[in-house]
Amino acid sequence: MSHPDFPTDDPAVVTCGLPYANGDLHVGHLRTYVSGDAFSRALETVGQQTAFVCGSDMHGTPIAVNADKEGVSPEEFALSYHEQYEATFPEFNVEFDNYGHTHDDTNTELTQDIVRALDEGGHVYEKEIKVAWDPEADQPLPDRYVEGTCPYCGETARGDECDEGCGRHLEPGEVEDPVSAITGNPAEYRDRTHKFFRVSDFQEYLQGFIDRLEGTANAKNQPREWIEGELQDWCITRDMDWGIDYPGEGADDLVLYVWVDAPIEYASSTKQYSERVGTEEYDWEAVWKNHGTDERPDGGEIVHIIGQDIIQHHTVFWPAMLRGADFNEPRAVMACGFVNLAGEAFSTSRNRAVWADDYLDAGFHPDLFRYQIITGSEFTADVNFSWDALQERVNNDLVGTLGNFCYRSLLFAERNYDGTPDVTVSEEVESHVESAIADVREAVNDYSVRGLGQAPVELAKFGNEYIQRHEPWNLVDDDPDRAAQVIRDCVQITKACAVLMEPVLPGKAEQLWAQLGESGSVHDAGIEAALEAPPATFDDPDELFDRIEDDQVAELNEQLEARVAEATAGDGTESEEADGDDESAVTDLEPVADDRVSFDDFQALDIRVAEILSAEPIEGADDLAKLEVDIGVETRQIVAGIKQLHDLDSLPGTRIVVVANLEKAELFGVESNGMLLAAGDQADLLTTLADAEPGTKVQ
Ligand code: 2FM
Ligand code: ZN
Repeated sequence: MSHPDFPTDDPAVVTCGLPYANGDLHVGHLRTYVSGDAFSRALETVGQQTAFVCGSDMHGTPIAVNADKEGVSPEEFALSYHEQYEATFPEFNVEFDNYGHTHDDTNTELTQDIVRALDEGGHVYEKEIKVAWDPEADQPLPDRYVEGTCPYCGETARGDECDEGCGRHLEPGEVEDPVSAITGNPAEYRDRTHKFFRVSDFQEYLQGFIDRLEGTANAKNQPREWIEGELQDWCITRDMDWGIDYPGEGADDLVLYVWVDAPIEYASSTKQYSERVGTEEYDWEAVWKNHGTDERPDGGEIVHIIGQDIIQHHTVFWPAMLRGADFNEPRAVMACGFVNLAGEAFSTSRNRAVWADDYLDAGFHPDLFRYQIITGSEFTADVNFSWDALQERVNNDLVGTLGNFCYRSLLFAERNYDGTPDVTVSEEVESHVESAIADVREAVNDYSVRGLGQAPVELAKFGNEYIQRHEPWNLVDDDPDRAAQVIRDCVQITKACAVLMEPVLPGKAEQLWAQLGESGSVHDAGIEAALEAPPATFDDPDELFDRIEDDQVAELNEQLEARVAEATAGDGTESEEADGDDESAVTDLEPVADDRVSFDDFQALDIRVAEILSAEPIEGADDLAKLEVDIGVETRQIVAGIKQLHDLDSLPGTRIVVVANLEKAELFGVESNGMLLAAGDQADLLTTLADAEPGTKVQ
């Protein structure tokens, strides 16, 4: 059964994947948080009661290892990052209603309650397993203390995750050829008794859950393979001191696996919020506790916003835990792509990163970053951050379109009418604002964060076209009524822009709201305020956005390059850290082959620009998608291994590059008539810089 559209009568909670309290934040980390903040603001704008919560992820082996290296306790180490994050998020206008951490009393108690409930429900059992052991250090090697080979795909993997290959969660003892991350020595396996959560008890439930789940296509599609296959039980304890103690008898030396207590912080943080504001205002139990039926669990609207690397935790283990403890299930999971820095992965080991503080020190308003990162690509695709990309978006969209329209409208209105001309808004403009409101409602219900960012700019684009079409400056003397009408309309569009800006550009929306002479905060205005009359008088406006100049970008690029050069000087490695969270993921680039191909050989390839018309998953095939593409001269069907890597729904309209004269092939019983070109393991689709028409030859 599908969920009713937002806004619903139930309270909602929006959560963001908890950051490990394990290092400084860079702009790559911030994507989830600014997107979550924008989505939760948009929910409120459309009238949904919403809490926005998160917290720091304090446990796990990397934190214990790093604290040890620094000679401090894991608690002290993690708390210092927790405090740093708590201060940094608001600087990006990310305003959580509650920001807790996984080691606090609320989360410790709730985690132990939930684990007890799973145990009492018969879903936890004890088993002796092989645990990696460092013979020299004479200690167990949980999770990231051990590295080896993934048994599923053969890639290098960490003890608990195949981070460079298939992305699977790995159970203790699974990684092959284990090596200790402490001493570098081959690890042994020794027998230890651990607690297991019988995920397979929930297989049927999870099959129904995944059908009900809303959110982004990657979060709904990727888990099907796991849920429909044989569900492996999940080891929920670790041989460590740092973590939350396993509640109950006979497990004194075990703590809970970090991935047990981390998501429970979503509920704990909501509980803390509820306790602060009072349950009359927001009742966490009404959201999280399940008093309903299988088909429509009767709780609130839980929306998780996460990175695409942790989909399995949120769509398999987490809902199974919630179900086992009789909690409500998530309504939606939204999983975003990674952030690249000027086209390459962030590399904290090479200091190739723009740190959160670098951005703030450069003096740019936080909303500029929010806008660039949110509209720079579809939510599920990777997005590029660079100073040049920021400049391009800001100068074109925010200065050139949105700021320009609002400033010229308010200036003209103030100079000629002291504010809003005293006439009613025209039908044309009213209906345009109504359709912009409908677009926002649709973006919210489609979980399209990008759509939220685009909405005010699209409206301002219309405004600019409207003002140019009517040229009010030529009407003031000859046709003052007409001039007043046009400017009245423009002030209305400006007010609507302020309302529509609020989710993605909250600080700038507030400034515009004040310039309009509005009282209170635009944050408290519902979406219908976009149609309400603006105040009769207001003062001279200021420009909302400043251009980012070339020399500023050049200087920031130089600083970044100099830092990378300094960090890599003499290290002689080409290693890349895919994210920089905690440990490196090495990407070896192949050297260019010595064998050359002739120009004639190259000419034999008919490579063309194509436009994707449709993209759909091939049922039963893990990775394959079927695309219809327009190659100018005809429409082709192409099968490509991109199902898990792209949001198929967002692909139509994308220009790609295809080899048109490749022999036909049959993949999974489906004919493929051509091949699309894509870069790397993530199948980064090749596209065109200017809009070359479909069919154009690539030469
Ligand atoms: O992968 C990570 O960065 C984890 N700290 C995310 C935890 S999200 C959750 F479920 F709590
Ligand atoms: Zn693997």
